[in-house]
Amino acid sequence: MHTITLIPGDGIGPEITKAVQDIFSAAGAPIQWEEQNAGQTTFDQSGELIPQSLLDSLEKNRVALKGPITTPVGKGFRSINITLRQKYDLYQNVRPAKTTEGIESRYTGVNLVLFRENTEGLYSGLEVYDERLGISDSFNRITVEGSRKICRAAFAYAAKHGRKKVTLAHKANILKMAGKLMLDACKEAATEFPQIVFEDKIIDNMCMQLVNKPEQFDVVVTTNLFGDILSDLCAGLVGGLGVVSGANIGDKMAIFEAVHGSAPDIAGQGKANPTALLRSGLMMLHHLGEHALADRIEKALDETLKHKEECTGDLGGKASTSEFAQSIIGRLA
Ligand code: NAI
Ligand code: MG
Repeated sequence: MHTITLIPGDGIGPEITKAVQDIFSAAGAPIQWEEQNAGQTTFDQSGELIPQSLLDSLEKNRVALKGPITTPVGKGFRSINITLRQKYDLYQNVRPAKTTEGIESRYTGVNLVLFRENTEGLYSGLEVYDERLGISDSFNRITVEGSRKICRAAFAYAAKHGRKKVTLAHKANILKMAGKLMLDACKEAATEFPQIVFEDKIIDNMCMQLVNKPEQFDVVVTTNLFGDILSDLCAGLVGGLGVVSGANIGDKMAIFEAVHGSAPDIAGQGKANPTALLRSGLMMLHHLGEHALADRIEKALDETLKHKEECTGDLGGKASTSEFAQSIIGRLA
């Protein structure tokens, strides 16, 4: 039995986490959930954004499944996602994007895995503002150590999963220092993995190439903010935000969550697609060594995806979140 911290999150979070729990329980997954929340919901209830009980649970279990958490734009609290990623050095944000039979897309044959550095760079949100001058400065802190860790992780993943190529997306032509750190780190990692092809692309060209010919990419590694943007772009290549999964991985802890956010526009209406979080849950099962169980659930999901009418509206269907989950449960072998 695995004890897993479950963070339902905000917006559509509770609906999709419930769907995943139902599917896992119907599949007989040996998982005991320890439910702990964070964010707006807990703040409204208890005045705490990240309760100590959540941190205790994470530190004890070291594996979590997490729903999305709302981060208000402008003044407001610092992102809880960033706080957790930095506090526990979850330096790898792993986001696969794959075209799947039944999910409509303009493309075929897309099968890439994005490795986004998850703790440094502009996305850290370290900023100062001088009101008198009307100037803000945002810090793009990149470290040699952080660059080495994420680049090495991308190559190690490629080697372990029989992938052939790693592409670094960067802006080293303009960011001569920060960009070069990642480039040097990747070149260094590449020498350790001579069987893997290494190439680098400047980020703007990378965006064009991804939209034009995404099937050429295999493993992609990049810095935090570029990775945030590229992963939503990659979602668009394979059916949208409702279907792409992710994992925040460190050497001592892993938090699995979808790429998408709390989707306030559809929250509480039973419209949310649970596939993205379910696939994140499948990544979690693989992480726990429950490979056969993950494959069994994935088969039921893939079969259901071929029946559009049983899927949620974003996939062209009419089913609610829970009806979709029930269809997947009905196909569990
Ligand atoms: P979003 O990803 O929540 O939504 C973008 C669009 O995709 C919306 O139209 C939404 O309805 C749709 N969508 C997203 N997930 C879906 C699903 N499972 N099924 C069907 N449609 C889905 O991005 P947005 O609106 O920019 O952000 C909303 C909030 O979420 C913000 O506060 C943001 O900071 C937060 N956020 C949190 C993340 C996390 O906790 N990891 C990640 C991304 C955003
Ligand atoms: Mg994002």
